[in-house]
Amino acid sequence: MSLAGGRRSEEEIRPPATLVIFGASGDLTRRLLAPAIAHLNRDGAISKDFAIIGIGRSPFTDEEFRAHLDDGAREFTPPTQGRPGDLPAKVVYLAGDFAEAELFQRLKSTLEGIESRRGGARNRIFYFATPPDADETIVEQLGREELATVENGWIRAVVEKPFGHDLASGRQLNKVLLSVFPEKQIYRIDHYLGKETVQNIFVLRFANGIFEPLWNHRYIDHVQISVAESVGVGHRAGFYESAGILRDMFQNHLLQLLTLTAMEPPAAYEADAIRAEKVKVLESIRPYTEGDIDDWAVRGQYGPGVVDGRRVPGYREEPKVDPASNTPTYAAVKIAIDNWRWAGVPFYLRSGKRLGKRVTEVAIEFKGVPHRFFSKASGEMQPNVLRLHIQPDEGVSLKFGVKIPGSVLQIQPVYMDFPYARLGAPIAGGYERLLLDVTHGDQTLFIRGDEAEHAWEVLTPILDAWAKRPAPEFPNYAAGTFGPEAADRFLEKDGRRWRTL
Ligand code: BG6
Repeated sequence: MSLAGGRRSEEEIRPPATLVIFGASGDLTRRLLAPAIAHLNRDGAISKDFAIIGIGRSPFTDEEFRAHLDDGAREFTPPTQGRPGDLPAKVVYLAGDFAEAELFQRLKSTLEGIESRRGGARNRIFYFATPPDADETIVEQLGREELATVENGWIRAVVEKPFGHDLASGRQLNKVLLSVFPEKQIYRIDHYLGKETVQNIFVLRFANGIFEPLWNHRYIDHVQISVAESVGVGHRAGFYESAGILRDMFQNHLLQLLTLTAMEPPAAYEADAIRAEKVKVLESIRPYTEGDIDDWAVRGQYGPGVVDGRRVPGYREEPKVDPASNTPTYAAVKIAIDNWRWAGVPFYLRSGKRLGKRVTEVAIEFKGVPHRFFSKASGEMQPNVLRLHIQPDEGVSLKFGVKIPGSVLQIQPVYMDFPYARLGAPIAGGYERLLLDVTHGDQTLFIRGDEAEHAWEVLTPILDAWAKRPAPEFPNYAAGTFGPEAADRFLEKDGRRWRTL
């Protein structure tokens, strides 16, 4: 996280660079990259000489591509972010097929043209907003055309999730990337790490003296990490049918939330020190064996229901979904971290589409008091819970018991709340922060190659077991609820309950 002090030159703060987006005509570019670039440009956070080259299959002209980005920036800028700015002056589009060498020759001459007109450093960001199978072809083409090495400048490759489809393809993708780019130039993106409240997990733990002494098995009973979404699969069934919730949300977002919550303090506030600690957490996760998956994981798929007062179809009725699909749209997973800090403290992770509402939170539930001398009549003694509200109502809250004023002893749980809104600073989208970090060469909020592979390793036994066994119970939760009943029983057998979201 780039908080380093010292004076930096204008070129370091706002390096003139060319952002080459592969998959530029796709949804991600319009929905997420366009608003982020427009904001960075509006706020003067990127160089006046920042240029964009979009590459995709759609036959756009430069002007049409600019209009496509402009529309995206306008449509997907939340009202809290103010008006999106203009795009950088230089926006170029190249249409073509990634398999054709000729496309990359055109890219080379376009890049060199922009760079020589600009003068100075030849900084290039290659952004892979493409599915993993296309990534390999592109990397190979960049290598072949010698586009990935440059004198007088830097090269950075940003790779979108999903990072492969499973452990084998994730490893293969790393191998191909590393054959052309050194690890120092690879930025595997997970937009959750760009969220302010996700970065705040690190700050809350390591910039405050009071939490860390309690942050271990002696005081914590268990941790719940929930990423609930009210949206369904939308128009992404083509991708989702072969991905499912574990690949789409757990391999990246949920395991990232887990590593930040569970990691040891790093030796320094620096990318490799932090990422090394996150990797250690993943390495300490107790491996599942295929035979015991049902004790550790529950899957679900939504049926028809009502979300936000509107009737919605079940997953199997969504366009382009197999009417007998086994794809899970919900999962709850129990994770044991076998290390000194977390021995005996289960981490329960859950995520699903078409749940009752959109909420992401990390809840730390503390152990009860060692001796209860208050009588039952004194009221409910509930455990202390520290909740990190990641979205949408960003904040932190702590639950504790207080005495209700009066002549009899009555205890009641209350909440001490910090809403981020109180700071009055709008919370920017994750992509802005992450793109800016790429221009500054800061890899802290990006996933290292071994980290991506370890995340796949954790989930592989569950993915394999579920792939082998169809789910006769699907659909097993109605849209608008909070997941299948089996997920409730899953926690009840440990004597615990999911927190109400
Ligand atoms: C994406 C997933 O990575 O994250 C989507 O592919 C999901 O399926 C999205 O909806 C959730 O992101 P956010 O920021 O809305 O929580």
